[in-house]
Amino acid sequence: MIIVGVDGSVASRAAVEWAAGDAALRHVPLRIVHVVDTSWYQVGKPPGAALPDTLLRGGRQVLTEAEALARERQPAVEATTELVTGSPADVLRERAGDAAELVTGSRGLGGFAGALVGSVSMHLAGHVHCPVVVVHAAHLPAQGEVVVGVDDSPECEPALAFAYEEAELRGATLRAVHAWQLPVHAYAPDLDFDMDEVRAARLQVVRDRLKTLGRDHPGVSVVEDVRSAHPVDALIAAAERADLVVVGSHGRGALGSALLGSVSRNVLQHARCPVAVVRA
Ligand SMILES: Nc1ncnc2c1ncn2[C@@H]1O[C@H](COP(=O)(O)OP(=O)(O)OP(=O)(O)O)[C@@H](O)[C@H]1O
Ligand SMILES: [Mg+2]
Repeated sequence: MIIVGVDGSVASRAAVEWAAGDAALRHVPLRIVHVVDTSWYQVGKPPGAALPDTLLRGGRQVLTEAEALARERQPAVEATTELVTGSPADVLRERAGDAAELVTGSRGLGGFAGALVGSVSMHLAGHVHCPVVVVHAAHLPAQGEVVVGVDDSPECEPALAFAYEEAELRGATLRAVHAWQLPVHAYAPDLDFDMDEVRAARLQVVRDRLKTLGRDHPGVSVVEDVRSAHPVDALIAAAERADLVVVGSHGRGALGSALLGSVSRNVLQHARCPVAVVRA
């Protein structure tokens, strides 16, 4: 099952359309969830006090609209709705426990003016174990390409597997981007090395990662894209011509305390196309 969180915002409508489309491709049902945060109302009231129906009425309307949109776009998909009270991030995280995929909008109705990705979506991308797809509000034309970020850590393998799947479902090309940079030194060490050799070694990293998974998806054509650039710059540039960018939640440089690696976080914020974060 694919779960989509809706709050009535433009980006969450885009998320519904994306989720319904993916549910159609995967032949799985779609569950549309709206969480009504009643904590502000319950402050100072005895636990278990009844909630006035007016608190839930708007939520029902959000769900009715989202369901109608899903049915209009993908009539063949079995779509159901669920209204829950609680904290949006906690409820969606819990619901995602037995889902194949969780889809959200990049922004919602709240947040501060300059935020690129809202706190609910950021929290989910940092915690949920199934793939989390974050969809921006802008409607972009189909490009026929899925981009995946590949590094030299095994953590990117689940992301690669998900990207292969999506490329196959969409009949899209898979662009495997591996960006690398020489470390920056104030006084460069006087080492003698061959740049072509470094480049060839990097390409081999990508080839090795792609080879094993590629056997399960022989129909997918793959572009190996090795660039000397910062991975965030490389992935955002590639995203301009992609229908989806897939990243792992962490890479080689993972800080133990960070829930999301800096590449994943920045791609999530700055790519214009939908971004999938896939946890190892
Ligand atoms: N109450 C909710 N119920 C279901 N899904 C929600 C809810 N709130 C947010 N979402 C999902 O998360 C997405 C991003 O919204 P989010 O709340 O993170 O951003 P925001 O409202 O702009 O800022 P803030 O973090 O301050 O609330 C929405 O597009 C929607 O998919
Ligand atoms: Mg919000």
